[in-house]
Amino acid sequence: MDDLEQLRSDLLARIEAAGLDSLETLRVETLGRRGRVTALMKDLGTLAPEDRRAAGQALNALKTAIAEAIDARRAALAAGALDSRLDAETIDVSLPPRPEPEGRIHPISQAIEEIVAIFCQMGFAVAEGPDIEDDFHNFTALNIPPEHPARQDHDTFYFQEGEGGEDGERMLLRTHTSPVQIRTMRSRKPPIRIIVPGRTYRADHDATHSPMFHQVEGLVIDEATHMGHLKGCLIEFCRAFFGVDDLPVRFRPSFFPFTEPSAEVDIGCRRSADGLTIGAGDDWLEILGCGMVHPRVLENCNIDPTRYQGFAFGLGVERVAMLKYGIPDLRTFFDSDLRWLRQYGFSALDMPNVAAGIAQ
Ligand code: PHE
Repeated sequence: MDDLEQLRSDLLARIEAAGLDSLETLRVETLGRRGRVTALMKDLGTLAPEDRRAAGQALNALKTAIAEAIDARRAALAAGALDSRLDAETIDVSLPPRPEPEGRIHPISQAIEEIVAIFCQMGFAVAEGPDIEDDFHNFTALNIPPEHPARQDHDTFYFQEGEGGEDGERMLLRTHTSPVQIRTMRSRKPPIRIIVPGRTYRADHDATHSPMFHQVEGLVIDEATHMGHLKGCLIEFCRAFFGVDDLPVRFRPSFFPFTEPSAEVDIGCRRSADGLTIGAGDDWLEILGCGMVHPRVLENCNIDPTRYQGFAFGLGVERVAMLKYGIPDLRTFFDSDLRWLRQYGFSALDMPNVAAGIAQ
């Protein structure tokens, strides 16, 4: 029994000093199948019966004490490990952020978001359509039959015959976003109130034209829509977009095969040696085309023109972005020059959205 006392204090001291690994070794060496305490238990049978009971109790007490000491030590080690990790991994929230490379929002994306935010606040929804179109949606359904001279004005990019289209039909890159008017009217019932931002293509390349450019189309179809709605809506848009409350807006008679009457919309500006001022002076600048949807277009979409009518408009995104942000050359939009983007781009944190509108 003296030996047991000695063994106990020995083991407890070693447990107290052990790390996680040596603790497990210690456990195996004492309480394991071939451990020392286990061996002593087995020896109990060799004792005289009158000694066995007391020795058994003492051994059991030793076994429990060792097991508890090991558990306690293990818990203490785990807590210590967590504490030291917490100490080592603290975050100093008062440190200023490390400078990170910051991307910029392209002015075209910014302009589209601003336009979308304004129209969505008026109750429009965003719709989209494919860049690769067929003749029907891009021309025929928009009241531009095959022999119509308006087709020549569009400088269309055609695909090879049979490439993509059904029955050998020649597909094309849409020359405007107006085909989405057709797709929407043929798949949805009025009332319709949509805007359609998207890429458009024309075989045209000079200082003021890029073969790929962007438009935002608008379409409203309802039972009592008239020219007054068109004018109110577009005047409101121009003033909100350019941030000029009394911006002069002029509707000039024009022609589009898919609207009747049709108009082009100009905003008031002044041209001088040091550039363009929007909202002042007595000059005009064209920014969009519009009109009341032609009854034949409604018929092409199976909408009864005696019951429904509406208006449509198409706006050139590059043009209004150049005007609003003071970008002098259209070609620079698509040069992918990072210095240009840093100069004219926008912070991701300034993105306008439908809920907040545009921050002027
Ligand atoms: N699609 C016409 C264009 O690209 C613009 C437009 C759209 C005009 C809708 C009237 C109505 O020039």
